[in-house]
Amino acid sequence: MLTWMDSLKGRSLMRLASFTDEEMLNLVDLAAQLKARRRAGVRGDLLHRKNIALIFEKSSTRTRNSSIIAARDEGGGAEYLTRPDIHFGKKESVKDTARVLGRIYDGILFRGFLQKTCEELAEFSGVPVWNGLTDDYHPTQILADLLTIKETFGDLKDCTVAYVGDGRNNVANSLMMGCAKAGVRYICCTPKELWPDEAVLAEAEEVAKRNGVDIRVFDDPVKGVKGANVLYTDVWVSMGEEAKTAERIKMLRPYQINMDLMRATGNIDGKLMFLHCLPAFHDFNTEVTKTSGALEVTDEVFESKYSRVFDESENRMHTIKALFVSALCDRKGV
Ligand code: CP
Ligand code: NVA
Repeated sequence: MLTWMDSLKGRSLMRLASFTDEEMLNLVDLAAQLKARRRAGVRGDLLHRKNIALIFEKSSTRTRNSSIIAARDEGGGAEYLTRPDIHFGKKESVKDTARVLGRIYDGILFRGFLQKTCEELAEFSGVPVWNGLTDDYHPTQILADLLTIKETFGDLKDCTVAYVGDGRNNVANSLMMGCAKAGVRYICCTPKELWPDEAVLAEAEEVAKRNGVDIRVFDDPVKGVKGANVLYTDVWVSMGEEAKTAERIKMLRPYQINMDLMRATGNIDGKLMFLHCLPAFHDFNTEVTKTSGALEVTDEVFESKYSRVFDESENRMHTIKALFVSALCDRKGV
């Protein structure tokens, strides 16, 4: 029988701090139950006649498709809306768009630039709004990451996650808070110029302390990853920062995850995995890397037995489904 917390009904997700620790972990558990349900071949009706608007200002493979299939699997629908499709922010304000779409849809998932836009949609639409990535946070990604760690290691206890790369991007910010809330030790290996924002770090540190774990920031990746069980990276240049590409590649080269860095954890023969939110520049097969080759992770690590990136990617769908179901489903005990 599927169960989830009543307090999740009707809830928006702006960032992981929007939820209590228990609520966040409950969503991860619900996602595991929904995954098992889908594996058993069940396509149910938990979202029967629920319609979700997907407002996307930035590109997406995983978040877009996960949202559409999550809704469709359970009898709901999702409509993909990009800036050229609707008047959003051009002929119509965010506030007015929110009020229009909130009368039509049961929920809105937003991917875009400003966190403020996401918050405004939540404030004025009157329906749950989920942050599918902004410049500042990527909370739905971290639900999938926690599920992947839990599935691979059995639980989240006694685990150290080392994030290596751009330490103040949306994924790093949310991962730091997600680890703090889950009681997972978090290490950030990043150059001084990209250290986490002070306020974001302080907020996560307070939560980590409450849960008996610490957060440590290093500029030396080899020292930093010692003892880590999860090495995690993301692209060196996030969407919207393309002008910084050359500078970032130069700055972050020493932070590439390769087999030497995997070995530097000291856990190469034990509890160790590699995660990446994807898309990843690990080979020559993209427009960006056709001449440069691998950037943030080598092909050797990406394709190794330590890599759980496609489980992680699949888990985006189950965790987004958990968010939709817990917020919108009218029934319990199904
Ligand atoms: N990880 C992630 O959010 O992927 P997409 O950009 O493809 O949605
Ligand atoms: N930090 C990356 C995440 C992509 C899923 C970006 O914002 O482009």
